[in-house]
Amino acid sequence: MSFLTGKALLAGITGWPVMHSKSPRLHGYWLDKHGVDGAYVPLPIAPGHYHEAIKGLVYAGFRGCNVTAPHKLTAFEVCDSVCEMSHKAGAVNTLVFEEGRVHGFNTDGFGWLQNLRSYGCDPNAGPALVLGAGGAARAVIAVLQHIGVPVTVANRTRETAEALTRTLPGLEVIDWDRRNAAIADHALLVNTTSLGMAGNPPLEISLDGASPGMTVADIVYAPLETALLADARARGLRTSEGLGMLLHQAVIGHNKWFGTHPVVDDALRAFVLAG
Ligand code: ATR
Repeated sequence: MSFLTGKALLAGITGWPVMHSKSPRLHGYWLDKHGVDGAYVPLPIAPGHYHEAIKGLVYAGFRGCNVTAPHKLTAFEVCDSVCEMSHKAGAVNTLVFEEGRVHGFNTDGFGWLQNLRSYGCDPNAGPALVLGAGGAARAVIAVLQHIGVPVTVANRTRETAEALTRTLPGLEVIDWDRRNAAIADHALLVNTTSLGMAGNPPLEISLDGASPGMTVADIVYAPLETALLADARARGLRTSEGLGMLLHQAVIGHNKWFGTHPVVDDALRAFVLAG
């Protein structure tokens, strides 16, 4: 246990609620490991108070914060500047405060991509089929397009998927009912819906059309092995789980606030899961 000094660097997770967030444990692990004089704290901010709260954090000398539900879109509005990925995804998950200004980043997509690659999967192997059109989908699609991967999206509500084409041009939209038939034409399948998460309905999908080289990724991490990933593994397909996205998205923010270069490894994974 180390103690803070008056020069401690401060960051945290803004959301409502935040009591279930794994981020304080995740960043706390790295702070401890690198002996940083700093703290990463939960910052519960009720909807309607986000602008004032961020202003308060800026004035209180915070280095920045992460953003989780329901504030990812509101956080976009409080920024003085946003990165290209935030602009494309229409949301930010990381804020950095510098000389009174608020800079917004979206590290969800790069975190997801980094995690996928850590499992030896090649995101550029061919076109990707993304299920869902919420915030996570936008971040994943933005980063895939950024590295030149053609993306098709299937969402229960087709209009929501079509609205994405405004900031993500070139995106192909298909009906939700066509998801099984479309699998054969894609090298990567990504579930970004909440289906398959503990307490939610299962994701109904058939991998019968998958080519042997297909990669299947799920952003759900509770359970760690979703029914989708279990099915894919049983068929000998490559898989990428959801917890790694959370771990990898945190690296960039941590570096910007605290100056160290943390790594994602099995010890971190086990520590976060144990909390
Ligand atoms: P996030 O920001 O974490 O991605 P979200 O914005 O709530 O979360 O998005 C959830 C996604 O899961 C959406 O694409 C949603 O589809 P709709 O746009 O039709 O709502 C999808 N989803 C949730 N429940 C679903 C269900 N029962 N069947 C199919 N898709 C579902």
